[in-house]
Amino acid sequence: MSETDDGLPPGMPDFPLDTPASGWTIMVCINRRLRSDLASCAARDSEGLAQAIEDAVHARGLDIRVERTVCMGRCNFGPTVRLAPGGAFRLGLTPEEVDTFLDDLERELGLKKERSKINDLPPPGS
Ligand code: FES
Repeated sequence: MSETDDGLPPGMPDFPLDTPASGWTIMVCINRRLRSDLASCAARDSEGLAQAIEDAVHARGLDIRVERTVCMGRCNFGPTVRLAPGGAFRLGLTPEEVDTFLDDLERELGLKKERSKINDLPPPGS
């Protein structure tokens, strides 16, 4: 296998695989507060929401990271989702709204599809 000018095998991304070229991250709070009488995102199934977002981002091949995070201080209105860096909060998002949410992000951010992921590359020698 020959190398490119960057010293990488052909087809290899020239950025760390977990860093989106777009620079955007969808942060999803999965915090559960210790006192069960206090509101928290996890109590509102934010882990299911995070999974739905991760699956949809992967299925669309979007150039954006999804990160499960700790509390972002909006516990009473969660699940809490925030676009980073410096983006707006999206509160109370449901798995059923994920497609519309991602449609809006694609349009607003001009997200491009990811370059080939390592798992999508053909096996060596093929
Ligand atoms: S528990 Fe999610 S914002 Fe606080």
